[in-house]
Amino acid sequence: MALEVIASSDEVPQGGTFVVAHRGEQVLLVRTDHGVFAVENRCSHAYQELAEGKVRKVFIFCPLHGLRFDLRNGCPKGDLTDKPIKAWKCAETDEGIAVDLDERLDPPLESK
Ligand code: FES
Repeated sequence: MALEVIASSDEVPQGGTFVVAHRGEQVLLVRTDHGVFAVENRCSHAYQELAEGKVRKVFIFCPLHGLRFDLRNGCPKGDLTDKPIKAWKCAETDEGIAVDLDERLDPPLESK
């Protein structure tokens, strides 16, 4: 698959979020000063939705326990879990915000 436009640019406010159900995923689009990112709308700690979380730089904070996730690769920063959330390739185009759900940016989980 390739990038697919899933939202118009004005649906994702600066410093804010927008959720799109797409191909069986709840895709959380986040616009930061560093660009637009696409991650799954679910915390890997206790499965809280992230859409209401605060956005700072390239991070979103889980609204339940405050864990911070790097929007560039889905990796958590903190002690609550080391499990990343899904992060996908995302780009802003003339047609809107495009995501490639087949191109994951989060690191693969190591099998133990
Ligand atoms: S549910 Fe997100 S940090 Fe606990």
